[in-house]
Amino acid sequence: MSRIIAITNQKGGVGKTTTAVNLAASLAATKRSVLLVDLDAQGNATMGSGVDKNELDYSACDVLLGQIDLKQIIIAGLPGGYDIAPANADLTAAEIELRESSERERRLRIALESVAAEYDYILIDSPPSLNMLTLNALVAADWVLVPMQCEYYALEGLTALLETIEGVRRSLNPGLKLLGLLRTMYDARNNLANEVSAQLCDYFGDKVYRTVIPRNVRLAEAPSHGLPALLYDKSSRGAQAYLALAGEMLRRDEDESGTAATSQRPTQTTDHETPVPLTLANNTKIGETTDTNDVGAIVKSDGVTFFKLKEKG
Ligand SMILES: Nc1ncnc2c1ncn2[C@@H]1O[C@H](COP(=O)(O)OP(=O)(O)OP(=O)(O)O)[C@@H](O)[C@H]1O
Ligand SMILES: [Mg+2]
Repeated sequence: MSRIIAITNQKGGVGKTTTAVNLAASLAATKRSVLLVDLDAQGNATMGSGVDKNELDYSACDVLLGQIDLKQIIIAGLPGGYDIAPANADLTAAEIELRESSERERRLRIALESVAAEYDYILIDSPPSLNMLTLNALVAADWVLVPMQCEYYALEGLTALLETIEGVRRSLNPGLKLLGLLRTMYDARNNLANEVSAQLCDYFGDKVYRTVIPRNVRLAEAPSHGLPALLYDKSSRGAQAYLALAGEMLRRDEDESGTAATSQRPTQTTDHETPVPLTLANNTKIGETTDTNDVGAIVKSDGVTFFKLKEKG
């Protein structure tokens, strides 16, 4: 069974696509079979994988609109060693059309059922907004990986994202869990980054990946060559960091095996009333407990429970 991971953050430019492409290549380098699903109309994961988004006969758009099977758009034999379900600007139209469609949030989940058995990992790159495409990613996934830059506004956005994840878990996908937070474009000389990073670790504990992705120019250059950094410059700090991330992810998956999400993945989404609470590092559970700390608080308001980060100052 594959592990389906949505790489999501509604904030733009935080490293979602860079993480999707380089994690896919790194997992592939460890002999895992990997499918990368591009669910962003920008088509950056597609281009960064060496596929010209302007030359596609079919794309993720056609799959979401039910016009073609996912299998038929998958491109194999990429330099990165993983397969891709590509996307381009057509996805913008699909997003609008989907809003009026039946099972609009479940289109990707249904499409993935036919290929899931063929892959160890399915990574979904999502767009910088909480739209119907992101919702499809969150409904299709077992896990959410959140790349974030360690800056104040990143924390603000995290609140909205965690609320969204919680909302999806309650209503559409009870099996959805937070896989982890990934610190990207990290500059250890930046005091704010270090502060935010420390706060994240305090609150989220081992939900924060120990691997930190440094700011590294090779990671920014590689997409223009249609390559993951691992193939562009294997020795670069960026490529090595994503290899380390894949290693950490595999170790965590092995540690968790037996309780892995894939074995618990519900086939139905009818169990809305009794979702499994999202467990944080200090064993507080979103949706159950009220707790405060330096970063924020579990807040109950009008019957809705969510994690709210502290206001600045
Ligand atoms: N660790 C890094 N070091 C240096 N540059 C990076 C790093 N990670 C990403 N970048 C660069 O930062 C920019 C934004 O990264 P990326 O496209 O991965 O973010 P994104 O979250 O997918 O953006 P969007 O929200 O627009 O989809 C890109 O130009 C990318 O090459
Ligand atoms: Mg992107």
